[in-house]
Amino acid sequence: MKRSERPPLSASAYADQSYYIQIQRNLNAQFEVDHDRKRRFMIMTYGCQMNEHDSEKLMGMLGEMGYEEALTKEDADLIIFNTCCVRENAELRVYGNLGALKPLKKKNPDLRIVVCGCMMQQPHVVEEIKQKYSHVSLVFGTHNLHQFPHLLSQSYTSSHLLVDVWDSEGEVIEGLPVARKVGIKAFVNITYGCNNFCTYCIVPYTRGRERSRTPESIVREIEGLVRDGAKEVTLLGQNVNSYGKGLKPLAESTGAGFEQVLNFPALLERVSQIEGLKRIRFMTSHPKDISEALIEVMARCENVCESLHLPVQSGSDRVLKAMNRHYTKGQYLDLLELARRRIPGLSVTTDIIVGFPGETEEDHEETMDLIEKAQYDSAFTFMYSIRTGTPAAEREDQVPEDVKHARFDRMLKRMNEIVIEKNKAHVGKTYEVMIENEGKEGEGTLIGRTRHNHLVAFEGPSAWTGSFALVKITRAKNFSLVGEVVEVL
Ligand code: 5AD
Ligand code: SF4
Repeated sequence: MKRSERPPLSASAYADQSYYIQIQRNLNAQFEVDHDRKRRFMIMTYGCQMNEHDSEKLMGMLGEMGYEEALTKEDADLIIFNTCCVRENAELRVYGNLGALKPLKKKNPDLRIVVCGCMMQQPHVVEEIKQKYSHVSLVFGTHNLHQFPHLLSQSYTSSHLLVDVWDSEGEVIEGLPVARKVGIKAFVNITYGCNNFCTYCIVPYTRGRERSRTPESIVREIEGLVRDGAKEVTLLGQNVNSYGKGLKPLAESTGAGFEQVLNFPALLERVSQIEGLKRIRFMTSHPKDISEALIEVMARCENVCESLHLPVQSGSDRVLKAMNRHYTKGQYLDLLELARRRIPGLSVTTDIIVGFPGETEEDHEETMDLIEKAQYDSAFTFMYSIRTGTPAAEREDQVPEDVKHARFDRMLKRMNEIVIEKNKAHVGKTYEVMIENEGKEGEGTLIGRTRHNHLVAFEGPSAWTGSFALVKITRAKNFSLVGEVVEVL
């Protein structure tokens, strides 16, 4: 296996790929002549928004190489698994789905199967793939995503599994093409990696140290997106609130005002000034790093949405300490109160882990109490899952599976009741909705989101997609709202 300690990288490293892109284009042109169709790919994405966005980059590169998207796995010449290692069940699904491709590969030996993403940053996973999944053609990691054209070209010339995973991150790579599925909504990375080392979490080990993109490159990318029709952007990072750490102030002013943009509130304010950008969201926020300055920018900037994803993880101070989260339940709730006071109607979502090692019934009660007080608009609840290599995995006091399940069920039940109650409170109110897509029922039905990120279904022609409308909420369903259009804006 090739593992380099610190890869030699320059920020323009993607430019070095142009040679391999051209090779692939030529091969694909020949393929099209021979088969009367383009080579087709399918990407299976697991995990978070960060991975979804990495898949958009893979799709962008595949587009440059002359591939088109397949509708089914059976139609594909290239199947890519972009994997996630944050919890065990995502990993198990990857293994299951990879195994299920064996017959397809047998039927079509030309099929290329590629596995990438965070899971591959763990040596024991790569070992498992080598041992048990010999039908895989190529494995690479998160740090050399930009090398995909080169790696793919290499893998086509070999019948053996090619593995290239870099141990550590290099500089931020700019200039990767991105194929975004929904034109009006876009995700934009602002930081990569994480320095927080929450004791349950594998991300700092697989995504590397925290790096920030420069404000110039972020703003230029968003300006380009807006020119191409985007109306909403979500700024992405494992912990957006530590944006700017390690960025060097510009020695001289360029006249563009970027020299002041060295922290997240300043970046958010600068992004909010981009003409034509209607909505800005961001995720994820670590409660320990949210500043009053951020809350003020959210309150002040009209196009920053009233929506905050603020993972709490636990309501027990003891567990929070053992998780290395650096805040208490009281501090978290005070922060929520301040944010809700300054930003009327703010919607708050969270992540919660039940069954962290050593969690007692009393600790669980504290989390149950926290959710009563926090009144979340929606929440993701997870059962703690052991991640090899993290401190919590080493603990002897793991919570038994049946106890974890019981706590999870109790948490989910109460959380759902709270969320449904909160949803009901929207009935009769009118909200601005950005119309995103046709609804599940097809022609004549639409779905969109409020500024608070609530999903709303209503009737209307698909020609309205991409517009904004005032929608009156008529009914609350468990996880979404139903409404009728009052006015198209
Ligand atoms: N077990 C369960 N949930 C986890 N998360 C991260 N690591 C683990 C783990 N080992 C959850 C956290 C985080 C979300 C993305 O995944 O709640 O916020
Ligand atoms: Fe993981 Fe904590 Fe970093 Fe989030 S902040 S990615 S939970 S280590």
